[in-house]
Amino acid sequence: MGDGNVNRFGSMQRLASVAAVFGGLLAISACTTTDKQQDAVEGTVHMCSSCHGMDGRSVSPTFPRLAGQQKDYLIVQLKAFRDHTRADPHAHTYMWGMAGGLSDPTIEGVAAYYSALTPVPGKAGDPTDVAAGKKIYEEGIPETGVPACGGCHGDAAQGGGAFPRLAGQHRSYIEGQLAAFSSNSRANEIMHENAKNLTPDAERQLAAFLATQ
Ligand code: HEC
Ligand code: HEC
Repeated sequence: MGDGNVNRFGSMQRLASVAAVFGGLLAISACTTTDKQQDAVEGTVHMCSSCHGMDGRSVSPTFPRLAGQQKDYLIVQLKAFRDHTRADPHAHTYMWGMAGGLSDPTIEGVAAYYSALTPVPGKAGDPTDVAAGKKIYEEGIPETGVPACGGCHGDAAQGGGAFPRLAGQHRSYIEGQLAAFSSNSRANEIMHENAKNLTPDAERQLAAFLATQ
């Protein structure tokens, strides 16, 4: 009977130590997965910086700034490049290949990385265009059914969730995207409705205003 207790006690101890070792292995493998994921994000970001700039602060207006962009928006866009639903010519040329091999966890990690960076502050632009763009951004153009932009993109154009930050983005990138929404070469139902009645002048003015924010 006493022997039985010792045995049971002994086997419980063995079980406990097996559990401890197993738990330790789980902890180690979880840690390795995180490290590997971290490495994948760092390697990816390094590759992206050749166009989008160090810390997402690109200099050339062909390449949108990513620093401080909304995380959810970045995730939506990277998946749209990966599955080819964002199909304007520059998306096709530059981003389909880039996003093609990104896994969901890497996309999450890259989006978290860029959204946490400090955005680039706006730069002064043509004062007449900036004033005209501010008026459209805040009030829309009621005569042609263009809505105010701030309702979705935020009073300071900071964005939120799947609505992108526009403040401090390159002027000509914004102008180009408005034209692409309007022509449906970048197909998005919401932004097509908002952009389809914008004249080239209004697109230029909105872009001038947003680039100063
Ligand atoms: C060879 C240059 C190049 C590289 C490298 C590159 N991109 Fe891009 N990226 C572009 C261009 C150009 C656009 C704008 C596409 C357009 O006009 O529709 C863009 C657009 C984007 C957008 C959409 C931004 C917005 O405001 O809608 C995201 C997000 C993005 N890239 C993320 C990445 C990530 C993450 C990487 C690295 C895996 C990467 N890019 C690598 C050229 C590049
Ligand atoms: C009803 C909500 C809504 C309104 C109003 C709205 N937008 Fe948008 N906008 C969006 C959404 C959603 C997206 C992202 C589309 C996508 O996922 O491709 C977007 C994307 C954009 C982009 C692309 C940004 C980038 O980084 O590529 C620009 C530029 C833009 N909007 C400008 C404007 C302007 C200017 C106005 C006012 C005339 C406006 N939007 C009004 C919802 C809105």
